Amino acid sequence: MKYRRLGNSGLKISEISLGGWLTFGRSVSDQRLARDIIVRAYDSGINFFDIADIYAQGKSEEAMGQVLRLFPRHTLVISSKLFWPMSDDVNDRGLSRKHIMESIDRSLKRIGTDYLDLYFCHRWDEETPLLETIRAMDDLIHQGKILYWGTSEWTGEQIQQAVDLAEKHNLHQPQVEQPHYNLFVRKRFETEIMPTASDNGMGLVTWSPLRSGLLTGKYDNGIPGGSRLEREEWLRDMVTDKNMDKVRQMKTVADDLGVSRAELAIAWILRQDTISSVITGATSVQQLESNLKATEVELTDDVVAALNAIFDPADE
Ligand SMILES: NC(=O)c1ccc[n+]([C@@H]2O[C@H](COP(=O)([O-])OP(=O)(O)OC[C@H]3O[C@@H](n4cnc5c(N)ncnc54)[C@H](OP(=O)(O)O)[C@@H]3O)[C@@H](O)[C@H]2O)c1
Repeated sequence: MKYRRLGNSGLKISEISLGGWLTFGRSVSDQRLARDIIVRAYDSGINFFDIADIYAQGKSEEAMGQVLRLFPRHTLVISSKLFWPMSDDVNDRGLSRKHIMESIDRSLKRIGTDYLDLYFCHRWDEETPLLETIRAMDDLIHQGKILYWGTSEWTGEQIQQAVDLAEKHNLHQPQVEQPHYNLFVRKRFETEIMPTASDNGMGLVTWSPLRSGLLTGKYDNGIPGGSRLEREEWLRDMVTDKNMDKVRQMKTVADDLGVSRAELAIAWILRQDTISSVITGATSVQQLESNLKATEVELTDDVVAALNAIFDPADE
């Protein structure tokens, strides 16, 4: 496993990481299986584990935390996030000072740790002044409850505003952005998010590298039983004739290289050194192991050009 710096910070995280969205506490409801996957990830050198309060309404933090407690805390980089409503309570949502101060304690308790390495604002909050959010994050850093704070799915302009405002008030700046990025979803990342993050010394940890599994080819002949798209009907919009045609064309490129499409899709993200880590998801040890092989795949310029021709960002 290789480790990369989180932007210009001194923190090093594994270039492949493991997250818990739709898996731990949900599709991977068997805690023994969760343990097998997470232990295998750790034994392979993964040190960064990404969670959020909203994943399975807190159950993902509990399920992953139960296993992460097996390892020495200093060897782990654990993140969680807040923003989405956790109950019907009017203040149990968003990025207000109150919600931030309440949420961190609940996340720490569910995970079973004294601090988070990274704490993400899961989306932009239209209703809370940005300075209120930044001050609360800065306070959490001073309290030792988090080490760095970050943003997720913020626009380039919103990220820049946060950096500038923090600098003006001598507060800790966001150190990391967590954007959606894969062969199908690239335009905004490449034109706006990556340049803004790089200009400001922020790290990037990207999510859904396989577009929920679509890029593996598992949906080539329909929706298999037990798969994510069988369970999560709302994600099925991505299975269009046009998209499936691209995934089939990609098979030729992968076959020529002698790798799987999953490995190729992840290696294509990893080749960009402004990206600190690719956050993967897995429902079995086999999936995790196959995704880890992406770290060994070298992509030539010709291969990258072939992928760019199939997955043209102008199509988005
Ligand atoms: N910040 C945000 O807003 C945000 C949003 C989404 C995700 N995330 C983070 O990013 C992480 C990864 O996202 P993701 O789970 O969507 O990643 P993904 O890699 O796009 O999809 C992972 C899913 O694809 C299937 N899969 C994975 N590897 C496979 C393989 N080798 N062969 C066949 N199928 C395979 C599995 O689903 P099945 O086996 O069930 O089909 C797996 O759960 C999340 O856990 C979370 O930490 C963040």
